[in-house]
Amino acid sequence: MKILLAGGAGYIGSHTAVELIRAGHDVVIADNYDNSCPEVINRIEKITGIRPVEYEVDVKNKSGVKKIFDENLIDVVIHFAGLKAVGESVQLPLKYYRNNIDTTLTLLEVMEESGCNNIVFSSSATVYGEDAPAPYREEFGRGKCSNPYGWTKNMMEQILEDAAKANPELSVVLLRYFNPIGADATGLIGEDPQGVPNNLMPYVSQVAVGRREKLTIFGDDYPTDDGTCRRDYLHVTDLAIGHVKAVEYADREKGTNIFNLGTGNPYSVLEIVNAFQEANDIKIKYEFGPRREGDLPEFWANADKAKEILGWEAKRGIVDMCRDTWNWQKNNPNGYR
Ligand code: NAD
Ligand code: UD1
Repeated sequence: MKILLAGGAGYIGSHTAVELIRAGHDVVIADNYDNSCPEVINRIEKITGIRPVEYEVDVKNKSGVKKIFDENLIDVVIHFAGLKAVGESVQLPLKYYRNNIDTTLTLLEVMEESGCNNIVFSSSATVYGEDAPAPYREEFGRGKCSNPYGWTKNMMEQILEDAAKANPELSVVLLRYFNPIGADATGLIGEDPQGVPNNLMPYVSQVAVGRREKLTIFGDDYPTDDGTCRRDYLHVTDLAIGHVKAVEYADREKGTNIFNLGTGNPYSVLEIVNAFQEANDIKIKYEFGPRREGDLPEFWANADKAKEILGWEAKRGIVDMCRDTWNWQKNNPNGYR
């Protein structure tokens, strides 16, 4: 199949491009490089031996997206193109609503005009909201989000569901990711946040490589065994393979279908730091600080549905996640730059 990856130069998109090419699919990437680098395309080619077709385009821009559909017979769209920094979304909510909602509307409109009926969407565990009990199950539905980023995911899911209700030919697959970490085993692509990382693993790896002095662990008084928050970390390559299964599913099923992509096994912040130290034989300097606003003590996936219906389950463990993160970071201390 020919698959358009909107936002495909980003962290998850680039790993998905590699796995789709490895599975024999044709990949078209559309990205404005707002949070990524054109060098990613060279790296994908280096890993797979195949260069994806590439468009530098703002996915909000209808004529730019239409051109892609005019020049390529797209079977499935995967919509990664979004802004994702939770803290920034609180400061700049309009920027987040404008970018995330508009990219979704533009893609859906152009798909309709071009006769493309399959879309896979990058959603997040954050849509379960603050009150859902862990493990999260798909049938819980959407809850109350704690920040504009989360609300954009919540709203985009609603928009996609409504579009599928109105068009019986449309297939919408909502993938609710948990916490992707790690990197392709080649170490040629990985997570490359701009500025100070918001997420745990890139912060840990930047401490390891000497770009940051020490990690601050946000809170040591949560109601968990060691007092630090617990999350469902999954290897980005497993997540990428989940997308391969999802595009194949989208091509054969109609309507809206929702899948959690997680391992079902939570780890605490301290467990992650210790695992990284042990897997890589490297010391991570850290201190405890206050809780971060909006953090939940713990959540993880019930991952049964993806296993039963997509035939997908996470195969890589915490040691792989820590080793592959470090392999990427030590070989690319300044990311792609
Ligand atoms: P990323 O920032 O690395 O990738 C997103 C890509 O989209 C970037 O390359 C960026 O340049 C591009 N983009 C953004 N707006 C665009 C626009 N208007 N036009 C064209 N390109 C645009 O993020 P990621 O971690 O790869 O996440 C991909 C998707 O998955 C995002 O929608 C994110 O919200 C979602 N998600 C990520 C996580 C996570 O932990 N990384 C968890 C849950 C959901
Ligand atoms: C965060 C977002 C979530 C988003 C996800 C993926 C918040 C409140 N939630 O999830 O909406 O979908 O990223 O982008 O921002 N930690 C530290 N020190 C750090 C960084 C993180 O102790 O420097 C801790 C956090 O408190 C948390 C855990 O590490 O307990 C994981 O944090 P993070 O990687 O940011 O992911 P989430 O908070 O799960």
